[in-house]
Amino acid sequence: MAGDDTASRATGDEQAPPETPLEALARARARVLAGGGPDRVEQQHEKGKLTARERLALLYDPDSFVEIDPFVRHRATDFGMAGREAPGDGVVTGYGRVDGRTVFAFAQDFTVIGGTLGEMHAGKICKVQDLALKTGAPCVGIQDSGGARIQEGVAALDGYGRIFWRNTLASGVIPQLSVILGPCAGGAVYSPALTDFVFMVQGTSHMFITGPEVIKAVTGEEVTFEQLGGADTHNRQSGVAHFLARDEAECFGLVRALLGLLPANNMEDPPFKDVGDPLDRQEEDLKDLVPLDPNRPYDIREIITRVVDAGTFLEVHAHWAQNVVVGFARLGGRSVGVVGNQPRVLAGCLDINASDKAARFVRFCDAFNVPLVTLVDTPGYLPGTAQEYGGIIRHGAKLLYAYSEATVPKLTVNVRKAYGGAYIGMCSRSLGADLVLAWPTAEIAVMGPEGAANIIFRDEIRQAEDPAAVRQARIAEYRERFANPYVAAGLGYVDDVIDPRATRPRLISGLEALVAKGEQRPARKHGNIPV
Ligand code: HXC
Repeated sequence: MAGDDTASRATGDEQAPPETPLEALARARARVLAGGGPDRVEQQHEKGKLTARERLALLYDPDSFVEIDPFVRHRATDFGMAGREAPGDGVVTGYGRVDGRTVFAFAQDFTVIGGTLGEMHAGKICKVQDLALKTGAPCVGIQDSGGARIQEGVAALDGYGRIFWRNTLASGVIPQLSVILGPCAGGAVYSPALTDFVFMVQGTSHMFITGPEVIKAVTGEEVTFEQLGGADTHNRQSGVAHFLARDEAECFGLVRALLGLLPANNMEDPPFKDVGDPLDRQEEDLKDLVPLDPNRPYDIREIITRVVDAGTFLEVHAHWAQNVVVGFARLGGRSVGVVGNQPRVLAGCLDINASDKAARFVRFCDAFNVPLVTLVDTPGYLPGTAQEYGGIIRHGAKLLYAYSEATVPKLTVNVRKAYGGAYIGMCSRSLGADLVLAWPTAEIAVMGPEGAANIIFRDEIRQAEDPAAVRQARIAEYRERFANPYVAAGLGYVDDVIDPRATRPRLISGLEALVAKGEQRPARKHGNIPV
């Protein structure tokens, strides 16, 4: 940190005393804290964006952030970089506390050469990644950057590679969160994509591989930044982002809420927090919440929020693949991951995106010791050529793989329909569910009564004098015989049929009983999940 910054400040003032080391330090630090200077900070604010340090202040408990590497400098000389000042080399890194727990973070500083990433900028990020991994603490990356610093060429690309490598090494060991608060373009998008959760803010965040101009030149398509890679696009259409916020303050509130539900690393259990919701609370509403008519929709979140500890449900991927709902919550104070079919969207069918969404969530929970609660109401996998050609076979397989692989406590509640492969895919006993409960409204069978009757009574229906009447009679017979939870319960695939009102206490007691679960798997380098 010597060099120019500590040079004498006296210029022509013979009387001025020499600068003390502490004064030199204060001056150097002030220069770093100023980032790109007042004009750039003003431009940042005019764009509706906070500065890197303002963002870190929102992430961390008050006054808990400690910066490291403030005096790192780039050593590029090409294309006008020689002697160009870049405080902090465009990224602020360090550690601090979130609800009293240590979290490492980096925040790219757009006011300094557009937050672009060069060799030393990348080195600072790698250092906090390494520290987070070594100490077993979460790492939060705040992205606001023009991407690879063009003047640094391959050294910048190497920097991205080093970050991706560390993202991958840390996957499943510490939670990694990416907060996109500005441009994140080109290959730069792959660091967030390798992390566990991506947060975006409407109007502020943009992620894309190639920008609108390149797209126009190559394909002729005209698209705005917002349409191409805005927060809505990635939360609703692509599924790249998991959380959508209206502004940066709301965004960091979500980041903090999520961190509060997660362990610091894969060797810890998630933090216990009693929110004062009685363990034996029975919800009267649950009695009538699921319509008796199997074709009438309802919102699965109405069940989730009544069962879990009051006010603790944090939905993940709330706007994408809405036919399945996933999220974290507390149950009797313990963190759980909840997966539920959503009968309101596509009748709760599993499709390509829903399978991807649920499988990735299940794998995160398993990696971080978060027990799984699965609520089942699905008529099956979504039919159609779009799904078949899109690879529903390999995508659907991910969910089977994820649940089978998971060794955390797995609790399943069959609420209504559980048909065919989707019955298995939603964590059946055969995939290792430790506790399977069913509501009296549950229907567990190879397929729905209509489809089943059409197949197994086809000849009889065709030859009948009144085919419609015979068909209805056979459907009713099939429904009576199979569309209930008692056949499965009779074979032990379901452990108990319960009063829906007792779901919360039954799940809490199940979780208590299973908390010490241990399960060994064959040694291997790693599995090979279908993609
Ligand atoms: C060097 C860059 C830069 C870059 C921006 N700047 N991007 N400097 N390398 N990649 C500089 C600008 O020259 C400017 O400096 C300052 O940052 C602020 O940028 P502005 O353009 O004034 O800001 P704004 O109008 O808000 O536009 C932001 C932007 C735009 C949309 C990000 O700058 C842009 O399109 N930049 C190029 C993006 C890009 O193509 N990046 C490479 C992606 S490929 P001065 O001093 O003039 O104010 C990539 C590969 C990664 O990243 C590969 C990983 C495997």
